[in-house]
Amino acid sequence: MQIILLGPPGAGKGTQAAVLSATLKIPHISTGDIFRAHIKGGTNLGVLAKRYIDSGKLVPDDVTTDIVASRLNEEDCASGFIMDGFPRTIPQARMFDEMLERLGKKVEVVINITVEDSIIVKRLSGRRMCSCGRTYHIDNNPPKTEGVCDVCNRSLYIRDDDKEETIKERLKIYHKQTSPLVDYYQGKGLTMNFDGSKPIEVTTREILDSLKKTD
Ligand code: AP5
Repeated sequence: MQIILLGPPGAGKGTQAAVLSATLKIPHISTGDIFRAHIKGGTNLGVLAKRYIDSGKLVPDDVTTDIVASRLNEEDCASGFIMDGFPRTIPQARMFDEMLERLGKKVEVVINITVEDSIIVKRLSGRRMCSCGRTYHIDNNPPKTEGVCDVCNRSLYIRDDDKEETIKERLKIYHKQTSPLVDYYQGKGLTMNFDGSKPIEVTTREILDSLKKTD
């Protein structure tokens, strides 16, 4: 199954993608995670991406679509994928459609998770990340031991772009450049909307129930 997760920063895309990936046994592809791995590794791409990410701006479309194109060629994508954070602009969505068409595939479902801006600022300032990919929240989804990942025992960290001013810029960019994608995919009859302000497990259940109905 080819799934896209849409939604503002902090809507819970990464949180839901991790569960959906384990349940549906298809890879979770996060362009944000790919950029962060390059930043950590000090690659040229990482140096370029950091300039945009730290100021809350989007990495240029051509750079981002190249990364996705090469990731889609990996073997684990043969039976589908969950795209988290891509596409994020109308040009990216068009390039993605063309890319998939060349592979004989298409987007099948777009899961749009909605959350109000005021909730997002609070959520992202309490987010804690692990380099293994797990995401926690100090109040809503705390690790068993404070500051330590439940799965790999590494120390948790705060993302550089989770500062209040950067979060506000990311939200501005989301409303201007990414939210038009909801209508883009609605026009293709692919969008399913979910209220991301409900508890994590409730949203997961609602998404899985809706996906079952598309089988
Ligand atoms: P990216 O990493 O994709 O960040 P984002 O889209 O801003 O989304 P987040 O990861 O912040 O939030 P999320 O929705 O995954 O929420 P999460 O599950 O963590 O992108 C980062 C940057 O990379 C971009 O700003 C851009 O610069 C660049 N980039 C990436 N893709 C790009 C592209 N295609 N084009 C150009 N540039 C690109 O949850 C957030 C917190 O809330 C967590 O603490 C979680 O535990 C908690 N939480 C989750 N769900 C709930 C719930 N239901 N109730 C309570 N708490 C919850």
